[in-house]
Amino acid sequence: MELKLSIMATSLLLMLAHVANADAAIFDVTKYGAKAGGEISKALTSAWKDACASTSSSTVSIPAVNYTLSPVVLQGPCKAAIGVHVQGTLKAPADPSQFKTDGWVVFQYIDQFTLSGTGTFDGQGAMAWKQNDCAKNKNCRTPPTNIRFDFLNNTLIRDITSKDSKQFHINVLGCNNVTFVHVTITAPGDSINTDGIHIGRASGINITDALIQTGDDCLSIGDGGRQIHVERVTCGPGHGISVGSLGKYKNEEPVVGITVTNCTISNTMNGVRVKTWRASPVGTASDMHFENIVMENVGNPIIIDQEYCPSGNCNNQPPSQVKISRVSLKNIRGTSSTRIAVKLDCSKSVPCENVEVGDINLTYKGPGGEVAAATSECENVKPKTFGTLNPKLFSSSG
Ligand SMILES: *[C@@H]1O[C@H](CO)[C@@H](O)[C@H](O)[C@H]1NC(C)=O
Ligand SMILES: *[C@@H]1O[C@H](CO)[C@@H](O)[C@H](O)[C@H]1NC(C)=O
Ligand SMILES: *[C@@H]1O[C@H](CO)[C@@H](O)[C@H](O)[C@H]1NC(C)=O
Ligand SMILES: *[C@@H]1O[C@H](CO)[C@@H](O)[C@H](O)[C@H]1NC(C)=O
Ligand SMILES: *[C@@H]1O[C@H](CO)[C@@H](O)[C@H](O)[C@H]1NC(C)=O
Ligand SMILES: *[C@@H]1O[C@H](CO)[C@@H](O)[C@H](O)[C@H]1NC(C)=O
Repeated sequence: MELKLSIMATSLLLMLAHVANADAAIFDVTKYGAKAGGEISKALTSAWKDACASTSSSTVSIPAVNYTLSPVVLQGPCKAAIGVHVQGTLKAPADPSQFKTDGWVVFQYIDQFTLSGTGTFDGQGAMAWKQNDCAKNKNCRTPPTNIRFDFLNNTLIRDITSKDSKQFHINVLGCNNVTFVHVTITAPGDSINTDGIHIGRASGINITDALIQTGDDCLSIGDGGRQIHVERVTCGPGHGISVGSLGKYKNEEPVVGITVTNCTISNTMNGVRVKTWRASPVGTASDMHFENIVMENVGNPIIIDQEYCPSGNCNNQPPSQVKISRVSLKNIRGTSSTRIAVKLDCSKSVPCENVEVGDINLTYKGPGGEVAAATSECENVKPKTFGTLNPKLFSSSG
């Protein structure tokens, strides 16, 4: 079964790669005036325009040289499959005030798109992290995301690196069928709000063999995330792999069909997490499966948090109304840096349903290397259990 699926996924990849690359006409940015060390937004947008107008498949090529790149929007629809192949390092302007938009490199409204190459998108985020006061200032300007994929279909993103983004590294919005293979994301563990890949209102998203080391969630899945498959992702430092936060706004779309398998999460604040706001409007998150995950020195290895309230002023507010159901947590092992390794804190008004937990082996390992049994906390959930359970599941409310 698994083999069959992976053969299917591989053949789809090959098909996409074929569509984008076989006999693709090459549009080399150096033919459009790009000079080593220079700023290439004009060259890149001109090459893109010509490639996009090509009636057979085309590739915009950026050679293995360092360039600077001002914010660009590369837009479809295009006449045929199109790719961008990046071998060099692209550097963003360091000063966030030079950005009028919420993205540095933005791809929009494209079908059959491929972004490939061993190149790097360097967001040069250090200045933005220093200036970021969004935790205190509600009217702050959100710094730009390194790479945005807005409203794309049938897209393959392969091998590229996103480094030191000013805010989220990669944002996937309104897309169908997007496959990420072997991408690398790096930023310091203390960089602010540098989520690795954020997915919202998008379906058929596969992320395999990624290495994500960053200052916020390695992956975060927002409302409307559907059929998202995450496999062999190495995460940490960072805040782990998160669904949510959900329930902040009205009319959020359901989250459904999330699988996270064969991942390693190390030195992170959380492992696998589902979080929803207190006092939320009605919503749902269902069919979420976390399996074969190794945790190393992780703060909250397994956590469902329906009391999310970063301001800390929620004690008198009603419980979350985001209904969580059909969740499995299976074969998750390793070390927790906090005593409570498993926390299933579900909503009082809409308890979690059909939660299965088994083959868990998590041990507390303190800052001095001392090892002890971990513990758990469960509220408003009656999980079905199987196999080994270290820690056992303790319920405070039944
Ligand atoms: C290109 O950029 C990389 C990464 O920022 C840097 O290490 C390297 O020295 C640069 N090379 C040149 C020729 O400027
Ligand atoms: C992507 O697919 C959706 C759903 O079929 C469609 O509405 C949209 O126009 C497509 N977008 C592009 C850029 O092809
Ligand atoms: C996504 O892929 C599936 C399977 O290949 C295909 O049936 C569907 O049309 C694709 N969606 C879009 C919007 O192209
Ligand atoms: C994603 O992976 C799953 C499981 O391997 C597969 O069924 C699905 O077709 C893949 N989707 C895409 C868009 O490649
Ligand atoms: C996932 O991990 C399990 C257990 O470690 C292993 O048996 C399986 O082959 C792995 N699957 C893939 C696709 O790597
Ligand atoms: C749980 O993990 C500990 C520490 O790695 C190991 O010694 C123990 O054998 C494991 N227990 C099971 C049932 O796998």
